[in-house]
Amino acid sequence: MSCFVEVLFTPAEFNTLRQQDLTQTFCVVFDILRATSVITAAIHNGAAAVIPVETINEAIHLRRQNPDHLLGGERNGLRISAELSGGVEFNLGNSPREYSSERVHGKTIVSTTTNGTRALRACANAQAVLAASFLNLNAVVEFVRHQSPGRLNIVCAGTHEDTALEDVLAAGNLCERLSARLQSCELADSAEVARRAYRHSMDDLPAAIRTAANARRLLNNPALADDVQFCLQFDCYDVVPLLGKDGAIRKFLPTA
Ligand code: MLT
Repeated sequence: MSCFVEVLFTPAEFNTLRQQDLTQTFCVVFDILRATSVITAAIHNGAAAVIPVETINEAIHLRRQNPDHLLGGERNGLRISAELSGGVEFNLGNSPREYSSERVHGKTIVSTTTNGTRALRACANAQAVLAASFLNLNAVVEFVRHQSPGRLNIVCAGTHEDTALEDVLAAGNLCERLSARLQSCELADSAEVARRAYRHSMDDLPAAIRTAANARRLLNNPALADDVQFCLQFDCYDVVPLLGKDGAIRKFLPTA
C-alpha cells in the first residue's frame, strides 16, 4: 500500500486535526527544540511514561491525583516556577539533558510546553501518534516502514503561532528517508516543500538550524545553549515514543 505523506507547518494547521477523521492516519510530531527531543531522551532513559498536557493547571491537577508523577516543561523556555504556576515548583524544565536515567527511570512525567505538547494533543485521535526528533529519526522511519500506514501527517509543532525552521527541516529529512525506504510513498506538495528545504540545507543541517529563531533563543541563554547541540545528534536513540489512548506516551514495544 502506498503511504500518502503530508506536512503541517503551523499550529493553525495542526489545530484543525481535532475535527478530522484520523482513524486511518499516523501522525509524527516534531518539536526539535525541544519538546519531542526531551520526550525521546526521557523514554530512552527509562521513563515509564510522559503525559503531554496543554496547560499548567492540567499538569498540576494530574500531579495532585498522582503524587509520584514528576512535573516537567517550560514557559518561555524556562522551567515552570511556583510563581508562574500559583505555588507549585515544577521538578524539571525542558532541557533534554535534565532527563537522565538517574532522574527519570521508572517515573511518569507530566509535561506542558509552549507548542510541543499542544501538537501532540491535537493528534490524539490519530491511528498512531509518534514523538519524533533527530535523536530517534531512524527508529521512526523503521516503525512507519513496518506499520505501513496509508496516510501520514508530519506535524511541525512550530513556535507560538509560527513555523519553526528546525521542525520543517526534520520533516523534510523524514520525507527524504521515507521516499528512499518505503516500497511506495507519495509526497503531497506540502511534503515536497519540506523535502526541498531539507535538501537545500542537508550539507550542513546543524549550521542551518543554528540560524533558526528557537536555536538563537536557546544559544543566547548560557544555561540552555548546549541543548541545541544535544538536539542535533542524529539517530542515537533506538526508541519510538508512542502516544497511547490513555494520553500517555510510552516506548513502543514490538510484539514478539
Ligand atoms: C515548545 O514546546 O515550543 C518548545 O519545546 C519550547 C522550548 O523547549 O523552549
